[in-house]
Amino acid sequence: MAAQFDKYKKDINRSTFVRYNENYLKDNFGTTDISPFWVADSDFIVMPELIKALKKTAKRGLYPYELKTLAIKQPLIDWFKKRHNVEIKMDGLLFTTSVNTGLAAAIDELTTKGDGIIIQPPVFQGFKGIINGVGRKIINNPLKLTNGRYEIDFTDLEKKASDKKNTAIILCSPHNPVGRVWKVKELEKIAGICIANNVLMLTDEIHADVIYSSNTFVGMTEVYKGKSDNIIMFGSAGKSFGIPGLVDSFMYTPNSTLKKAMQERIMRFHLGKSNAFGNAALKTVYKYGHKWLDTKTAYLAKTVNTIDEYLKKNIPNISLVKPEGTYQVWLDFNKVVKNDDELKNLLYNKAKLGITLGTEYGIGGKGFARMNIASPRPMIMEALGNLKK
Ligand SMILES: Cc1ncc(COP(=O)(O)O)c(C=O)c1O
Repeated sequence: MAAQFDKYKKDINRSTFVRYNENYLKDNFGTTDISPFWVADSDFIVMPELIKALKKTAKRGLYPYELKTLAIKQPLIDWFKKRHNVEIKMDGLLFTTSVNTGLAAAIDELTTKGDGIIIQPPVFQGFKGIINGVGRKIINNPLKLTNGRYEIDFTDLEKKASDKKNTAIILCSPHNPVGRVWKVKELEKIAGICIANNVLMLTDEIHADVIYSSNTFVGMTEVYKGKSDNIIMFGSAGKSFGIPGLVDSFMYTPNSTLKKAMQERIMRFHLGKSNAFGNAALKTVYKYGHKWLDTKTAYLAKTVNTIDEYLKKNIPNISLVKPEGTYQVWLDFNKVVKNDDELKNLLYNKAKLGITLGTEYGIGGKGFARMNIASPRPMIMEALGNLKK
């Protein structure tokens, strides 16, 4: 089954895909002559049951307004229970078009203009745009890199959280781009600090499904149980099943006041419109996707190890911060370049490798770059071969 992930479908017009679109490539890399491994989506053909379900929906020939019924919500709830031991109660579940939509709506609805929102850079660059976009202030609690491993600076977090102007935190769990899967002890410490200071917890768990080796994803909503319900979790099947262009996303809160506020916001701004294909996809992947996702994760884990070994053997001056989860790898170029211009020249002009500069992810990103590895391994190894040359 793993061999399916080695295949790259050539006969597909990818020009409308964000990852391959010529305008995007030119804007990001100054050229279209580049191998793109940047945006965090996947180049694998989706699971066969999903294609079947979508064909069935297409054949229906009727696409009226659709609801998210129990038949769609239950598989999602079951998935989280079985896969992650995370309890999602039907009553606290809401849907929006994307995780970013949900995060922006939550910050706008539940905090006040000018408030500080804590993030932990280097972190998913979308957070920066969302926080600025709704007129809030970015408050950085930078991660610390100790012996090749990223850790949370709890002293700094406590300082930032205790400032009354900082009213919410976006936790990236697991963390994109550094690939940490936060341990329960770390999550408990973050929770303790946020709860004590009445900081609203917005936990982005979109990468929860791709976890490597002995690591275990722990849902922050579980950590909060019995302590506080000042929390909203955000998730999506988009990354896990390679379908961000198909499905909407969800949010979950055990807090009825937060749920009511978000439900009203979603209705007022019409943020929750669902579509027939997305609904069919959600139902299918969460019901039948366990084995497929296990195979994909094992494939990705092997890719991580192969990259690591290749770099150690062939380009030892470039190293990999080994991810515990997510299909992003965080590469350290600090031994080979002095600044972003040199890094850009190396990646985009010489190696023709379209990956994202670490500085995009904020403080701590200098000299790093993020590579998306949800692509057939032969393509990734070819790209690394160019980097070596
Ligand atoms: C941590 C994180 N949150 C949110 C998103 C965006 O999700 P969506 O497409 O559902 O808005 C991404 C995409 O890369 C991400 O990595």
